Amino acid sequence: MQIGIPTETVAGENRVAATPETVKKLISNGHDVVIERGAGIKSAYIDSAYESVGAKITENAYEGSEIILKVRAPVGDEIQKIKQGSAVVAMFDPFRNPELDAFAQQKISAFALELLPRTLSRAQNMDVLSSQANLAGYKSVLLAANAYQGLFPMLMTAAGTVKPAKVVIMGVGVAGLQAIATAKRLGAVVEATDLRPTAKEQVQSLGGKWLDVPMSEEEQQRAADAAKNGYGWMPGEQYIKDQAAIVDKAVSQADIVITTALLPGRNAPRLIKAETVKKMKPGSVILDMAVETGGNVEGSAVNETVVTENGVQILGIPNIPSTVATEASALYARNVFNFVSTLFNEDKQLNITLEDEIQKALLVSHDGELLLKRS
Ligand code: NAI
Repeated sequence: MQIGIPTETVAGENRVAATPETVKKLISNGHDVVIERGAGIKSAYIDSAYESVGAKITENAYEGSEIILKVRAPVGDEIQKIKQGSAVVAMFDPFRNPELDAFAQQKISAFALELLPRTLSRAQNMDVLSSQANLAGYKSVLLAANAYQGLFPMLMTAAGTVKPAKVVIMGVGVAGLQAIATAKRLGAVVEATDLRPTAKEQVQSLGGKWLDVPMSEEEQQRAADAAKNGYGWMPGEQYIKDQAAIVDKAVSQADIVITTALLPGRNAPRLIKAETVKKMKPGSVILDMAVETGGNVEGSAVNETVVTENGVQILGIPNIPSTVATEASALYARNVFNFVSTLFNEDKQLNITLEDEIQKALLVSHDGELLLKRS
Protein backbone atom coordinates (compact mmCIF):
# COMPACT_ATOMS: atom_id res chain seq x y z
CA MET A 1 0.00 0.00 0.00
CA GLN A 2 1.54 3.32 -1.08
CA ILE A 3 0.94 6.25 1.25
CA GLY A 4 1.53 9.75 -0.16
CA ILE A 5 2.39 12.94 1.72
CA PRO A 6 1.85 15.95 -0.58
CA THR A 7 3.06 19.49 0.11
CA GLU A 8 0.44 21.71 1.74
CA THR A 9 -0.77 24.37 -0.68
CA VAL A 10 -3.05 26.55 1.48
CA ALA A 11 -1.35 29.92 2.07
CA GLY A 12 0.28 30.16 5.50
CA GLU A 13 0.10 26.41 6.16
CA ASN A 14 3.53 25.34 7.44
CA ARG A 15 2.59 21.96 8.86
CA VAL A 16 3.04 18.53 7.31
CA ALA A 17 0.94 15.41 7.91
CA ALA A 18 3.80 12.94 8.49
CA THR A 19 7.17 13.30 10.18
CA PRO A 20 10.22 11.02 9.88
CA GLU A 21 9.06 9.40 13.15
CA THR A 22 5.63 8.43 11.80
CA VAL A 23 6.95 7.58 8.33
CA LYS A 24 9.38 5.14 9.94
CA LYS A 25 6.47 3.47 11.75
CA LEU A 26 4.35 3.30 8.58
CA ILE A 27 7.24 1.68 6.71
CA SER A 28 7.91 -0.81 9.48
CA ASN A 29 4.21 -1.70 9.31
CA GLY A 30 4.83 -2.78 5.72
CA HIS A 31 3.77 0.27 3.66
CA ASP A 32 5.62 2.33 1.05
CA VAL A 33 5.73 6.05 1.76
CA VAL A 34 6.31 8.78 -0.82
CA ILE A 35 6.95 12.38 0.27
CA GLU A 36 6.58 15.29 -2.10
CA ARG A 37 9.89 17.13 -2.38
CA GLY A 38 10.11 19.80 0.34
CA ALA A 39 6.77 18.84 1.95
CA GLY A 40 8.21 19.02 5.46
CA ILE A 41 10.70 21.84 5.09
CA LYS A 42 8.50 24.58 6.59
CA SER A 43 8.13 22.53 9.75
CA ALA A 44 11.87 21.70 9.80
CA TYR A 45 11.58 18.11 8.52
CA ILE A 46 13.99 17.93 5.60
CA ASP A 47 13.81 15.50 2.69
CA SER A 48 16.97 13.63 3.76
CA ALA A 49 15.41 12.93 7.18
CA TYR A 50 12.50 11.18 5.45
CA GLU A 51 14.86 9.35 3.07
CA SER A 52 16.94 8.11 5.97
CA VAL A 53 13.92 6.25 7.37
CA GLY A 54 13.11 4.68 4.00
CA ALA A 55 10.69 7.11 2.30
CA LYS A 56 10.95 7.97 -1.38
CA ILE A 57 11.05 11.64 -2.38
CA THR A 58 8.84 12.39 -5.37
CA GLU A 59 7.60 15.35 -7.43
CA ASN A 60 3.95 14.25 -7.13
CA ALA A 61 2.90 12.36 -4.01
CA TYR A 62 -0.61 11.78 -5.37
CA GLU A 63 0.67 9.56 -8.18
CA GLY A 64 0.19 5.89 -7.33
CA SER A 65 -0.83 6.54 -3.72
CA GLU A 66 -3.81 4.71 -2.27
CA ILE A 67 -3.83 6.79 0.89
CA ILE A 68 -3.09 10.50 1.04
CA LEU A 69 -2.23 12.10 4.37
CA LYS A 70 -2.62 15.87 4.56
CA VAL A 71 -3.06 18.65 7.07
CA ARG A 72 -5.63 20.58 5.00
CA ALA A 73 -8.02 18.87 2.61
CA PRO A 74 -6.87 18.88 -1.01
CA VAL A 75 -8.42 21.76 -2.97
CA GLY A 76 -9.21 22.46 -6.65
CA ASP A 77 -6.87 20.65 -9.07
CA GLU A 78 -5.35 18.62 -6.24
CA ILE A 79 -8.61 16.69 -5.91
CA GLN A 80 -8.34 15.59 -9.55
CA LYS A 81 -4.84 14.24 -8.89
CA ILE A 82 -6.12 11.77 -6.28
CA LYS A 83 -6.46 8.21 -7.52
CA GLN A 84 -10.11 7.10 -7.77
CA GLY A 85 -11.18 4.83 -4.94
CA SER A 86 -8.36 5.88 -2.64
CA ALA A 87 -8.52 7.40 0.86
CA VAL A 88 -7.64 10.88 2.08
CA VAL A 89 -7.08 11.68 5.75
CA ALA A 90 -6.99 15.40 6.57
CA MET A 91 -8.73 18.28 8.31
CA PHE A 92 -11.54 18.93 5.81
CA ASP A 93 -13.26 21.81 7.64
CA PRO A 94 -16.29 19.67 6.75
CA PHE A 95 -19.11 22.09 7.55
CA ARG A 96 -17.63 24.91 5.45
CA ASN A 97 -15.84 22.99 2.70
CA PRO A 98 -17.55 23.74 -0.64
CA GLU A 99 -15.76 20.93 -2.52
CA LEU A 100 -16.89 17.79 -0.71
CA ASP A 101 -18.98 16.73 -3.73
CA ALA A 102 -15.80 16.52 -5.81
CA PHE A 103 -14.42 13.89 -3.41
CA ALA A 104 -17.61 11.86 -3.71
CA GLN A 105 -17.48 12.10 -7.53
CA GLN A 106 -13.90 10.77 -7.48
CA LYS A 107 -15.12 7.90 -5.24
CA ILE A 108 -12.65 8.99 -2.58
CA SER A 109 -13.03 7.87 1.01
CA ALA A 110 -12.54 11.22 2.69
CA PHE A 111 -11.85 11.12 6.45
CA ALA A 112 -12.37 14.47 8.19
CA LEU A 113 -10.34 14.30 11.39
CA GLU A 114 -12.36 17.10 13.03
CA LEU A 115 -15.35 14.73 13.28
CA LEU A 116 -13.64 12.33 15.69
CA PRO A 117 -15.96 11.25 18.54
CA ARG A 118 -13.99 12.88 21.33
CA THR A 119 -15.59 11.06 24.23
CA LEU A 120 -14.36 7.65 22.97
CA SER A 121 -11.26 6.84 24.98
CA ARG A 122 -9.69 4.77 22.17
CA ALA A 123 -9.90 7.84 19.92
CA GLN A 124 -8.09 10.24 22.24
CA ASN A 125 -4.68 9.70 20.65
CA MET A 126 -6.22 10.61 17.26
CA ASP A 127 -7.73 13.91 18.43
CA VAL A 128 -6.23 16.62 16.21
CA LEU A 129 -8.52 19.34 17.56
CA SER A 130 -7.08 18.83 21.03
CA SER A 131 -3.46 18.42 19.99
CA GLN A 132 -3.51 21.56 17.84
CA ALA A 133 -5.63 23.67 20.23
CA ASN A 134 -3.24 22.90 23.06
CA LEU A 135 -0.29 24.37 21.14
CA ALA A 136 -2.40 27.27 19.86
CA GLY A 137 -3.37 28.15 23.44
CA TYR A 138 0.29 28.33 24.43
CA LYS A 139 1.37 30.34 21.39
CA SER A 140 -1.59 32.76 21.62
CA VAL A 141 -0.21 34.04 24.93
CA LEU A 142 3.25 34.59 23.45
CA LEU A 143 1.79 36.40 20.44
CA ALA A 144 -0.32 38.65 22.67
CA ALA A 145 2.64 39.25 25.02
CA ASN A 146 4.80 40.20 22.06
CA ALA A 147 2.29 42.78 20.82
CA TYR A 148 1.80 44.19 24.35
CA GLN A 149 4.08 47.07 25.29
CA GLY A 150 3.94 46.18 29.01
CA LEU A 151 5.18 43.13 30.92
CA PHE A 152 3.45 40.02 32.24
CA PRO A 153 5.23 39.52 35.59
CA MET A 154 5.32 41.83 38.56
CA LEU A 155 8.82 43.30 38.92
CA MET A 156 10.19 45.12 41.93
CA THR A 157 13.05 47.30 40.75
CA ALA A 158 15.05 50.18 42.19
CA ALA A 159 13.14 52.43 39.79
CA GLY A 160 9.78 51.25 41.10
CA THR A 161 7.34 48.38 40.81
CA VAL A 162 5.95 46.98 37.54
CA LYS A 163 2.42 45.66 38.03
CA PRO A 164 1.59 42.21 36.62
CA ALA A 165 -0.52 42.10 33.49
CA LYS A 166 -4.19 41.29 33.93
CA VAL A 167 -5.20 38.61 31.44
CA VAL A 168 -8.77 37.52 30.66
CA ILE A 169 -9.35 34.23 28.82
CA MET A 170 -12.79 33.68 27.29
CA GLY A 171 -13.57 30.05 26.52
CA VAL A 172 -11.66 27.53 28.58
CA GLY A 173 -11.51 24.39 26.50
CA VAL A 174 -8.22 22.83 25.47
CA ALA A 175 -6.74 26.09 24.08
CA GLY A 176 -8.04 28.28 26.89
CA LEU A 177 -6.65 26.03 29.62
CA GLN A 178 -3.21 26.01 28.03
CA ALA A 179 -3.42 29.80 27.63
CA ILE A 180 -4.17 30.15 31.36
CA ALA A 181 -1.24 27.89 32.28
CA THR A 182 1.11 29.83 29.98
CA ALA A 183 -0.01 33.28 31.16
CA LYS A 184 0.35 32.17 34.79
CA ARG A 185 3.86 30.85 34.11
CA LEU A 186 4.74 34.29 32.72
CA GLY A 187 3.51 35.87 35.94
CA ALA A 188 0.17 37.39 34.89
CA VAL A 189 -3.00 37.61 36.95
CA VAL A 190 -5.58 35.54 35.06
CA GLU A 191 -9.39 35.51 34.96
CA ALA A 192 -11.42 33.17 32.80
CA THR A 193 -14.92 32.06 31.94
CA ASP A 194 -16.68 29.39 29.89
CA LEU A 195 -20.18 28.15 29.19
CA ARG A 196 -19.32 24.87 30.83
CA PRO A 197 -19.57 25.17 34.62
CA THR A 198 -17.16 22.22 34.97
CA ALA A 199 -14.40 24.48 33.67
CA LYS A 200 -14.49 26.43 36.96
CA GLU A 201 -12.45 23.85 38.88
CA GLN A 202 -9.92 23.54 36.08
CA VAL A 203 -9.43 27.31 35.96
CA GLN A 204 -8.99 27.49 39.70
CA SER A 205 -6.57 24.55 39.78
CA LEU A 206 -4.34 26.50 37.36
CA GLY A 207 -4.40 29.53 39.67
CA GLY A 208 -6.92 31.53 37.62
CA LYS A 209 -9.97 33.38 38.92
CA TRP A 210 -13.33 32.09 37.63
CA LEU A 211 -15.70 34.72 36.26
CA ASP A 212 -19.03 33.31 37.32
CA VAL A 213 -22.09 33.77 35.11
CA PRO A 214 -25.28 32.84 37.02
CA MET A 215 -27.23 29.89 35.57
CA SER A 216 -30.85 28.92 36.09
CA GLU A 217 -31.66 25.34 37.14
CA GLU A 218 -32.86 24.61 33.62
CA GLU A 219 -29.59 25.92 32.16
CA GLN A 220 -27.56 23.86 34.63
CA GLN A 221 -29.47 20.77 33.53
CA ARG A 222 -28.91 21.55 29.84
CA ALA A 223 -25.20 22.13 30.47
CA ALA A 224 -24.94 18.81 32.36
CA ASP A 225 -26.74 16.93 29.54
CA ALA A 226 -24.50 18.46 26.89
CA ALA A 227 -21.37 17.68 28.91
CA LYS A 228 -22.23 13.94 28.78
CA ASN A 229 -21.67 14.10 25.02
CA GLY A 230 -18.57 16.25 25.38
CA TYR A 231 -20.26 19.34 23.94
CA GLY A 232 -21.25 22.79 25.12
CA TRP A 233 -24.87 23.99 25.23
CA MET A 234 -26.63 26.85 23.48
CA PRO A 235 -27.16 29.59 26.08
CA GLY A 236 -30.43 31.49 26.33
CA GLU A 237 -31.07 35.25 26.29
CA GLN A 238 -30.68 35.79 30.03
CA TYR A 239 -27.34 33.96 30.20
CA ILE A 240 -26.01 35.91 27.21
CA LYS A 241 -27.07 39.19 28.87
CA ASP A 242 -25.50 38.30 32.23
CA GLN A 243 -22.35 37.03 30.56
CA ALA A 244 -22.05 40.26 28.53
CA ALA A 245 -22.23 42.36 31.72
CA ILE A 246 -19.58 40.26 33.50
CA VAL A 247 -17.35 40.19 30.44
CA ASP A 248 -17.76 43.93 29.96
CA LYS A 249 -16.47 44.61 33.48
CA ALA A 250 -13.56 42.15 33.37
CA VAL A 251 -12.47 43.01 29.83
CA SER A 252 -12.58 46.76 30.36
CA GLN A 253 -10.01 46.34 33.16
CA ALA A 254 -7.80 43.83 31.33
CA ASP A 255 -4.42 44.36 29.68
CA ILE A 256 -4.69 41.21 27.55
CA VAL A 257 -7.79 39.34 26.40
CA ILE A 258 -7.62 36.00 24.59
CA THR A 259 -10.84 34.56 23.19
CA THR A 260 -11.03 30.90 22.19
CA ALA A 261 -14.77 30.15 22.05
CA LEU A 262 -15.78 27.95 19.14
CA LEU A 263 -19.00 26.15 18.26
CA PRO A 264 -18.27 23.03 16.19
CA GLY A 265 -19.84 23.35 12.73
CA ARG A 266 -21.14 26.89 13.33
CA ASN A 267 -19.92 30.46 13.44
CA ALA A 268 -18.11 31.40 16.63
CA PRO A 269 -20.18 33.18 19.28
CA ARG A 270 -19.73 36.96 19.51
CA LEU A 271 -18.51 37.52 23.07
CA ILE A 272 -16.97 40.99 23.05
CA LYS A 273 -18.82 43.92 21.58
CA ALA A 274 -17.25 47.10 20.16
CA GLU A 275 -18.68 49.08 23.08
CA THR A 276 -16.70 46.90 25.51
CA VAL A 277 -13.51 47.32 23.48
CA LYS A 278 -14.06 51.10 23.67
CA LYS A 279 -13.84 50.90 27.48
CA MET A 280 -10.44 49.16 27.42
CA LYS A 281 -7.20 50.92 28.30
CA PRO A 282 -4.93 52.22 25.52
CA GLY A 283 -2.20 49.66 24.92
CA SER A 284 -4.30 46.65 25.81
CA VAL A 285 -4.29 43.71 23.41
CA ILE A 286 -7.05 41.33 22.31
CA LEU A 287 -6.22 38.13 20.46
CA ASP A 288 -9.26 36.57 18.77
CA MET A 289 -8.48 32.88 18.20
CA ALA A 290 -11.89 32.40 16.59
CA VAL A 291 -11.22 35.02 13.91
CA GLU A 292 -11.41 32.47 11.06
CA THR A 293 -14.94 31.37 11.95
CA GLY A 294 -16.54 34.78 12.32
CA GLY A 295 -14.69 35.97 15.42
CA ASN A 296 -15.52 36.27 19.13
CA VAL A 297 -14.65 39.96 19.01
CA GLU A 298 -16.49 42.66 17.10
CA GLY A 299 -14.00 44.36 14.80
CA SER A 300 -11.43 41.55 14.49
CA ALA A 301 -10.24 40.68 10.98
CA VAL A 302 -8.29 37.71 9.60
CA ASN A 303 -4.58 38.46 9.14
CA GLU A 304 -4.94 41.99 10.47
CA THR A 305 -3.97 43.89 13.57
CA VAL A 306 -6.78 46.39 14.03
CA VAL A 307 -5.85 49.36 16.23
CA THR A 308 -8.96 51.04 17.62
CA GLU A 309 -9.37 54.77 18.25
CA ASN A 310 -8.78 54.20 21.96
CA GLY A 311 -5.49 52.44 21.26
CA VAL A 312 -6.49 48.78 21.64
CA GLN A 313 -4.84 46.25 19.33
CA ILE A 314 -7.10 43.44 18.09
CA LEU A 315 -4.97 40.62 16.67
CA GLY A 316 -6.63 38.43 14.05
CA ILE A 317 -3.92 35.80 13.60
CA PRO A 318 -5.24 32.77 11.71
CA ASN A 319 -3.98 29.22 12.04
CA ILE A 320 -1.86 29.69 15.15
CA PRO A 321 -0.76 26.00 15.25
CA SER A 322 1.05 26.63 11.97
CA THR A 323 3.28 29.18 13.78
CA VAL A 324 4.69 26.33 15.90
CA ALA A 325 4.81 24.01 12.92
CA THR A 326 7.53 21.63 14.09
CA GLU A 327 5.73 20.49 17.22
CA ALA A 328 2.27 20.96 15.74
CA SER A 329 3.24 18.62 12.89
CA ALA A 330 4.82 16.13 15.30
CA LEU A 331 1.58 15.85 17.31
CA TYR A 332 -0.68 15.98 14.24
CA ALA A 333 1.36 13.29 12.49
CA ARG A 334 1.07 11.01 15.54
CA ASN A 335 -2.71 11.57 15.64
CA VAL A 336 -2.88 10.71 11.92
CA PHE A 337 -0.66 7.64 12.32
CA ASN A 338 -2.84 6.35 15.17
CA PHE A 339 -5.97 6.75 13.05
CA VAL A 340 -4.50 5.39 9.82
CA SER A 341 -3.23 2.30 11.64
CA THR A 342 -6.86 1.30 12.22
CA LEU A 343 -7.67 1.30 8.49
CA PHE A 344 -5.83 -1.88 7.50
CA ASN A 345 -6.70 -5.54 7.70
CA GLU A 346 -4.22 -8.30 8.56
CA ASP A 347 -3.02 -8.38 4.93
CA LYS A 348 -2.12 -4.69 5.23
CA GLN A 349 -4.87 -3.82 2.74
CA LEU A 350 -7.27 -0.90 3.19
CA ASN A 351 -10.36 -2.05 5.06
CA ILE A 352 -12.77 0.86 5.05
CA THR A 353 -15.98 0.00 6.80
CA LEU A 354 -18.98 1.89 8.11
CA GLU A 355 -19.19 -0.80 10.80
CA ASP A 356 -16.34 0.88 12.64
CA GLU A 357 -17.56 3.66 14.95
CA ILE A 358 -14.59 5.95 14.38
CA GLN A 359 -14.38 5.44 10.61
CA LYS A 360 -18.11 5.99 10.30
CA ALA A 361 -17.92 9.26 12.23
CA LEU A 362 -15.04 10.60 10.14
CA LEU A 363 -16.13 9.58 6.64
CA VAL A 364 -17.59 12.53 4.75
CA SER A 365 -17.55 10.75 1.39
CA HIS A 366 -17.28 7.07 0.54
CA ASP A 367 -18.12 4.81 -2.40
CA GLY A 368 -19.26 7.78 -4.48
CA GLU A 369 -21.66 9.04 -1.83
CA LEU A 370 -21.57 12.24 0.19
CA LEU A 371 -22.14 11.05 3.76
CA LEU A 372 -21.89 14.25 5.76
CA LYS A 373 -25.21 15.62 6.84
CA ARG A 374 -25.11 19.40 7.08
CA SER A 375 -27.73 20.97 9.34
P1 NAI B 1 -13.88 24.40 21.50
O1 NAI B 1 -12.56 24.69 20.87
O2 NAI B 1 -15.00 23.94 20.63
O3 NAI B 1 -14.39 25.69 22.28
C1 NAI B 1 -13.54 26.33 23.22
C2 NAI B 1 -14.32 26.63 24.48
O4 NAI B 1 -15.22 27.70 24.23
C3 NAI B 1 -15.16 25.47 25.01
O5 NAI B 1 -14.75 25.17 26.32
C4 NAI B 1 -16.60 26.00 24.95
O6 NAI B 1 -17.38 25.56 26.05
C5 NAI B 1 -16.36 27.50 25.03
N1 NAI B 1 -17.50 28.30 24.55
C6 NAI B 1 -18.26 28.10 23.44
N2 NAI B 1 -19.20 29.05 23.35
C7 NAI B 1 -19.03 29.87 24.43
C8 NAI B 1 -19.72 31.02 24.90
N3 NAI B 1 -20.77 31.52 24.26
N4 NAI B 1 -19.29 31.58 26.06
C9 NAI B 1 -18.24 31.07 26.74
N5 NAI B 1 -17.55 29.99 26.34
C10 NAI B 1 -17.94 29.39 25.20
O7 NAI B 1 -13.71 23.35 22.69
P2 NAI B 1 -12.54 22.31 22.94
O8 NAI B 1 -11.41 23.00 23.55
O9 NAI B 1 -12.28 21.57 21.69
O10 NAI B 1 -13.16 21.28 24.01
C11 NAI B 1 -14.20 21.60 24.87
C12 NAI B 1 -14.28 20.61 25.99
O11 NAI B 1 -14.31 19.28 25.57
C13 NAI B 1 -13.10 20.70 26.94
O12 NAI B 1 -13.57 20.57 28.25
C14 NAI B 1 -12.33 19.54 26.65
O13 NAI B 1 -11.55 19.13 27.77
C15 NAI B 1 -13.39 18.55 26.31
N6 NAI B 1 -12.79 17.48 25.57
C16 NAI B 1 -13.05 16.23 25.99
C17 NAI B 1 -12.44 15.17 25.39
C18 NAI B 1 -12.72 13.81 25.88
O14 NAI B 1 -13.63 13.62 26.65
N7 NAI B 1 -11.96 12.87 25.45
C19 NAI B 1 -11.50 15.35 24.28
C20 NAI B 1 -11.34 16.71 23.89
C21 NAI B 1 -11.97 17.74 24.53
